[in-house]
Amino acid sequence: MKVLVIGSGGREHALVWKLSQSPRIDKVYCAPGNAGISEIAECLDIKANDIDALLNFVKYDWIDLTVVGPEAPLTAGIVDAFVKEERRIFGPDKSGARLEGSKVFAKDFMLKYGIPTAEYKTFSSYLHAEEYIRLKGAPLVIKADGLAAGKGVFVCETVDEAIDSLKLIMKEKAFGAAGSKVVVEQCLRGEEASFMILTDGKTVVPLASAQDHKTIFDGDKGPNTGGMGAYSPAPVITKSLQVKIMKTVIAPIIKGLSRERINYRGVIYAGLMISNGKPYVLEFNCRFGDPEAQPILMRLESDLFEMLKATAEGRLKEVKVSWKDDSAVCVVLSSKGYPDKYEKGKEIKGLEDLKGKKDIMVFHAGTSLNNGKLVTSGGRVLGVTALGKDISAAKDKAYDAISKIHFDGMHYRKDIADKAIKKLKVESEK
Ligand code: AMP
Ligand code: GLY
Repeated sequence: MKVLVIGSGGREHALVWKLSQSPRIDKVYCAPGNAGISEIAECLDIKANDIDALLNFVKYDWIDLTVVGPEAPLTAGIVDAFVKEERRIFGPDKSGARLEGSKVFAKDFMLKYGIPTAEYKTFSSYLHAEEYIRLKGAPLVIKADGLAAGKGVFVCETVDEAIDSLKLIMKEKAFGAAGSKVVVEQCLRGEEASFMILTDGKTVVPLASAQDHKTIFDGDKGPNTGGMGAYSPAPVITKSLQVKIMKTVIAPIIKGLSRERINYRGVIYAGLMISNGKPYVLEFNCRFGDPEAQPILMRLESDLFEMLKATAEGRLKEVKVSWKDDSAVCVVLSSKGYPDKYEKGKEIKGLEDLKGKKDIMVFHAGTSLNNGKLVTSGGRVLGVTALGKDISAAKDKAYDAISKIHFDGMHYRKDIADKAIKKLKVESEK
């Protein structure tokens, strides 16, 4: 069987790595991929959003399954185009991808189907939004409606901050058309966690829990990024909380999708705030989280290809999924300047010594080859991911591996997984 993975980040490297382990796979392609992916798959010079070129390749080369990594091709309708041509593809169609592609759609969907979320109002008029912000008072969260690469959400502690964010979105149009509508919502406090499921619209398979680290600096300080590290499992998601999430969040989503006649076949990622023991949905993504996919896929024991193919074919109920008891921690190494303008073209050294170690994977994100040399080419460069008997052991292994890696301006958080380790320590002392 031949598989095509679409995308070029750490998530796609992890997907390609795990898919290649399936005994049923003969060949994995990746479009466009990166330097790390090119070591284990054939990379194609096709952009992730060039739907026509991707479809042509799949038809010409008889690809058995296409797996879409990022959200942009999904919201642009890649699945609709492939299904029309009877090509097997993993991911939701355009109507399902609105769960991520439009925050207004997602919030209205949650309200309609009773999914717990922050109170909100949506606006397409700047003046009405400003009036509402002044009426409500801070703290408030201001969100651009459309895709903004994780940068369109502002948690505002004062009314002035909220109005500045509103201006940035609606007047200065910092995110273009994605900011023609905004969501103004209540600020929730608590602990965040990522909860992902696979679904074919009928069956739901929960994936291992994970927690992301969104901000660039230690102690959850500084601007938000795509994610600076993640670990799995997330101790905040206890067994009883998972039961609650399945009942109060996931079951109503599946019911809502069916009522709306949305035939969803892919991942649903719920970004949750756990507040007083209850889960509230902050956002949905219609794809695997990045970097959450890296530690989660390192813990997966089952055949990922079977799981994704069955999802795409609507036979998810036939699949059994098992996980390693081990924990995994992924620490992202980023370029100087990220998440703003960042440096590129810096030589990366030290990866050779880390190759072939079963419990360490260095997933590439923004890397490329320049005259045979491995260089940085993106904001997030590498995701150093380690497996250990518990989170503490996995963390130590990941940071030990990082001490061997170098590139100019290399930045990473030193506190990935500390929250989980602290939580587990407190619990064990109870
Ligand atoms: P989103 O892209 O919607 O997940 O938002 C990005 C980040 O903003 C989240 O991971 C949270 O840290 C924060 N956030 C979003 N919505 C809220 C909210 N209603 N209350 C508090 N924080 C929020
Ligand atoms: N790590 C958050 C995301 O994938 O959106």
